Amino acid sequence: MTEQEPEVRQASGAPQVVLTWRHLYTLATERLGSDVEARRIVERASGRDVWLAVLDEHVPERAIPFFDEMVERRAAGEPLQYVLQRWGFRTLDLFVDQRVLIPRPETEVVVEVAIRELRRIDAHRALVADLGTGSGAIALSIAVEVPNAHVWATDTSEDALTVARANLAGIGSPAAVRVRMLQGRWFTALPGAFRGQFDVVVSNPPYIAEQEVLPSEVVDWEPRSALIAGPQGTEAIAEVVQGAAEWLAPAGAAVVEIAPHQAADVRALAHDAGFANVDIRPDLTGRARVLVARR
Ligand SMILES: C[S@@+](CC[C@H](N)C(=O)[O-])C[C@H]1O[C@@H](n2cnc3c(N)ncnc32)[C@H](O)[C@@H]1O
Repeated sequence: MTEQEPEVRQASGAPQVVLTWRHLYTLATERLGSDVEARRIVERASGRDVWLAVLDEHVPERAIPFFDEMVERRAAGEPLQYVLQRWGFRTLDLFVDQRVLIPRPETEVVVEVAIRELRRIDAHRALVADLGTGSGAIALSIAVEVPNAHVWATDTSEDALTVARANLAGIGSPAAVRVRMLQGRWFTALPGAFRGQFDVVVSNPPYIAEQEVLPSEVVDWEPRSALIAGPQGTEAIAEVVQGAAEWLAPAGAAVVEIAPHQAADVRALAHDAGFANVDIRPDLTGRARVLVARR
């Protein structure tokens, strides 16, 4: 898409391409119909986030194929997060690609609630399980934001764990040494000695029903195993909540992301699993999104 680069003649008469980031930004805005997305792509291609400073700088030739590829992938419908291969989540800048779900703003609220539960419990050494860790968004945020948290993260997908481990390497060793990542189904991946020991079990499991219709930007690009739970949509939530009743310490809490329409069913299944204190909290837009079940 950069065929119409401006060409100027130097005093010597030799042609020289003078291409600035502003020029590429204009091209990308026209191609994508979004100045916000064009800006993100320019920031990624330039490796700079000092927006105004970068605009009139010359584009190094080696950056052009990367820029073009990102614009064309986005124009073909690939989510911006995968195109950029990174996305902000709370304090983290996570690596993401098609092997993992794109971390969502509502999951940032799930982390907030889990951290509040950890503060309430106030354990000297907090033990946390993040089930279905995907990119590692929840596990790594808790490890970074709660200095005494020891986090065990599980996922059935080896591909997802490869991404999570790449993100683990990016958070710095003081937090990273307190995170372990294990492949396997929900609690079965965890060491049996931890049964009844966890202060918080947190999870954003798949919670979409098989027959639900999803936007193509989601269904065509994000891993099906991260989205679809089964015919009801609550199957994975039920497994996590039932297991949590067994794996939590007596004062512990399960914190689980849900879809708003599942609130009543999830509340009932938490009571059935033996939780005495069950609450559903809203996300930032006020929709019922987070189950908090205390033993
Ligand atoms: C909705 S994604 C959440 C990813 C990440 N925690 C987040 O919030 O962005 C659900 C994750 O659960 C994993 N998963 C699905 N079934 C699982 C199972 N039976 N045991 C463990 N993880 C599972 C998927 O591979 C996926 O990474």
